[in-house]
Amino acid sequence: MDSPATSLPAQRVIEPSILYFGTPVVLITTRNPDGTPNISPMSSAWALADRVVLGLTSASQGCTNAVRTGQCVINLAEAAQWQRVESLARTTGRREVPAEKAAMGYYHEPDKFAAAGWTPVASERVAPPRIGECPLQLEAEVVAVHAPGGGAWRHDGEHGFAIIETRVLRVHAHAAITIPGTSHIDVARWQPLFYVFRHYVAAGKDMGRTFKAEA
Ligand SMILES: Cc1cc2nc3c(=O)[nH]c(=O)nc-3n(C[C@H](O)[C@H](O)[C@H](O)COP(=O)(O)O)c2cc1C
Repeated sequence: MDSPATSLPAQRVIEPSILYFGTPVVLITTRNPDGTPNISPMSSAWALADRVVLGLTSASQGCTNAVRTGQCVINLAEAAQWQRVESLARTTGRREVPAEKAAMGYYHEPDKFAAAGWTPVASERVAPPRIGECPLQLEAEVVAVHAPGGGAWRHDGEHGFAIIETRVLRVHAHAAITIPGTSHIDVARWQPLFYVFRHYVAAGKDMGRTFKAEA
């Protein structure tokens, strides 16, 4: 009889340049110092209870804005919107584009709503607008900003990224992805967009549900 090790698939040690194993594409809306809105595409986000934790590079305008104002909206893109997300991929709301970003072709875009054709919709609990076309929009406040490795994050260039802990204050959903008469999301209709090792990927088929599933 084969030993367990030999019956497993062949395995290798690899050294991938990034560890983006697959998380949803999120568009963070924040307010710039002059009051205009900014959109930051990102994917390092996870949720537990009423918290959503975001990993944002310190060089991004979205990070600066979220920390300064204590507010953001976490807009979840759907699979069909990947090209609109990608149309913002080389943009930054920062007037002075960091040298390493400029070298990669990034440019300053002061109006990302217009650039990508998104529609700003007034939020109810926070100042940054929501993105009307995104099927899920989470209004949130920043409750803590952690440095990698622990401790408080400082915007002095010491930390490459911030771990921003937000509390969701209000959830908006397109009615079409909800189950009428409930607060449940219809997972047959909600088609999130995932970022998997720098590819945009749509969710596969529904394989089943956990015992706690409500719908
Ligand atoms: C699909 C996608 C996922 C991204 N994920 C992240 C991320 O998780 N964290 C991050 O800091 N930047 C991420 N980026 C890069 C930011 O979008 C980029 O730094 C951008 O310039 C931020 O815009 P801002 O400077 O206006 O905030 C991602 C970009 C794309 C296109």
